[in-house]
Amino acid sequence: MTNDPTAVAATTGLGAIHRGAGRVDAGEKSMINARADVNQLLPMKYGWAWEKYLAGCANHWMPTEVSMQADIALWRSRDGLTADERLMLTRNLGFFATAESLVANNTVLAVYRHITNPECRQYLLRQAFEEAVHTHTFQYICESLGLDEGELFNAYREVPAIADKDSWALRYTQNLESPGFATGTPETDQAFLRDLIAFYVVFEGMWFYTGFAQILSLGRRNKMVGIAEQYQYILRDESVHLNFGIDCINQIKLENPHLWSPQFQDEVRHMLAEACELEVAYGRDTMPRGILGINADLCAQYMHFITNRRCVQLGLEPLFAEVDNPFPWMSETMDLQKEKNFFETRVVEYQSGATLDWN
Ligand SMILES: [Fe+2]
Ligand SMILES: [Fe+2]
Repeated sequence: MTNDPTAVAATTGLGAIHRGAGRVDAGEKSMINARADVNQLLPMKYGWAWEKYLAGCANHWMPTEVSMQADIALWRSRDGLTADERLMLTRNLGFFATAESLVANNTVLAVYRHITNPECRQYLLRQAFEEAVHTHTFQYICESLGLDEGELFNAYREVPAIADKDSWALRYTQNLESPGFATGTPETDQAFLRDLIAFYVVFEGMWFYTGFAQILSLGRRNKMVGIAEQYQYILRDESVHLNFGIDCINQIKLENPHLWSPQFQDEVRHMLAEACELEVAYGRDTMPRGILGINADLCAQYMHFITNRRCVQLGLEPLFAEVDNPFPWMSETMDLQKEKNFFETRVVEYQSGATLDWN
């Protein structure tokens, strides 16, 4: 912890101007605890962060562009959805409705402050806007279907499996939110890494995926197709958020190898194991009985598969024995986005919009 005002001003970028200071060399830039001026994007050091910023901008979308007519008709019809499908849908939306705000608040109030690199901050600003678009999506769904907004936005307090997940993640951001917190010691740098792992790898990289699978599974059966389309856009955004988080963590490891001790690696594996258990419980709570094409056991298997992948991405040994992906169509959905993606029309519209002559 430090209360040195000079050090704090250097990381916010809002300190007094140092007239005549030496020019920034890209080699002086670093992910955390940088001495280089955080207001200077160029010269750039981390091309991967800039690429993700450009990808995020090219993927721009708004929830209100998606028609909700079919969803409204199905939601209102007496036998369009089974009681199990309605329960799953309500709890699924209940998780996401506040999860997007929790992620946004962590990004803006905890992560942004401690990442001392302008190209990464440029991406974080884009991500923060995307989280606002995602929260907007749940407002739009709530309004379109005429859902009980109190029930939806209080699910994280009232549905135990959702409250358990969110409470787990909040522990990691609460450490950083104290005004006296500053990176710069092995203990506080590790606390920051834990927050990045809890939010990027667990929250966005594990806990969103059961929810995506549930809604995309309904969409594959031609049910709630408007929400399913919105979830496809969210999934596309989230896969960039996840990859940005993994790149940040791995870059911090590279620059600060002492932080990634065997003991800390064990702790991270333990975090992922706990997170996986919480997600399996959430799967059971949202689907106490099976739904056509998806059930809590398959979601548990899927979460083991995803957890193993996240371990490998962080350079850790997988936690579970090798397991098949029970929802191969989920990875098809994601792979499709990289090659010939089904968002082509909208993406092209936005990209051509960017080249318009505004004069
Ligand atoms: Fe999001
Ligand atoms: Fe996200």
